[in-house]
Amino acid sequence: MTDRQPVIAARGLEIRFGGVVAAAGISLDLFEEDHLAIIGPNGAGKTTFLNICTGYLRPQAGTVTFRGRNLIGASPREITRLGIARAFQIPQLFAEQTVRENMLLAAAARSGRLGSLNRLAAIPERGEVDALLRLIECDDVADRVASELPEGKRKLIDVALALALKPEVILMDEPTSGVASSEKFAVMDTLVGALKEQAVTSVFVEHDMEMVTRYATRVAVWNAGTIQKEGPPEAILSDPVVIRTVVGS
Ligand SMILES: Nc1ncnc2c1ncn2[C@@H]1O[C@H](COP(=O)(O)OP(=O)(O)OP(=O)(O)O)[C@@H](O)[C@H]1O
Ligand SMILES: [Mg+2]
Repeated sequence: MTDRQPVIAARGLEIRFGGVVAAAGISLDLFEEDHLAIIGPNGAGKTTFLNICTGYLRPQAGTVTFRGRNLIGASPREITRLGIARAFQIPQLFAEQTVRENMLLAAAARSGRLGSLNRLAAIPERGEVDALLRLIECDDVADRVASELPEGKRKLIDVALALALKPEVILMDEPTSGVASSEKFAVMDTLVGALKEQAVTSVFVEHDMEMVTRYATRVAVWNAGTIQKEGPPEAILSDPVVIRTVVGS
């Protein structure tokens, strides 16, 4: 066994909202090039965990470190700059800008330059952005306005926006929610292929067990603010307790 250091390490996270326990002692290690699926019933605290890791929520107890550096108290923007990107359930795109303009704005934001739309053509990341659009199989829609995109492409662009920030880790909340079931595998094939190509470690919240089986390298089962089980997909998804509480729900 190699003595691998985790990229992200959470220890003893606790958070309550009134009487609701959203995290009750969450501890988890994420290792390089893991593709960790988080599964569990509605309200289990899956999104809360992503919110804590990305600085949107501050836990009442516990720590999260990224390559040994404490993230608690850091703002979402600081955490993004450190190398943890977030893709949202509802893609965060400027609806009236084209796909390429959205990507150029993200790339300009990464380098700390304020994106000025009438000068986007001149920014140096243009080649890089076009390469990323090819990687995520969205070069065909580069000049389309974001609001006109089909949902599958919109999800891919949301991930491409995150990748434009050159993250080490990407956290995704139900990346294919809202995508027609006939398109889900194609979207995830493209998405996970791009993450592997860029050696980006990922965490994704997922309700569809077929997606988990096909794409996860590890699975963590959330239940009432705790991690009920964690391990390789085959073992977790065939566990009778997991089947009863999650898979069959
Ligand atoms: N900012 C908040 N203020 C108050 N309550 C919250 C807040 N965020 C989450 N909660 C509550 O904490 C619990 C866990 O919520 P969370 O969104 O993390 O669940 P989830 O596992 O992502 O569920 P779902 O599968 O439905 O997305 C829920 O009862 C939710 O209502
Ligand atoms: Mg959620």
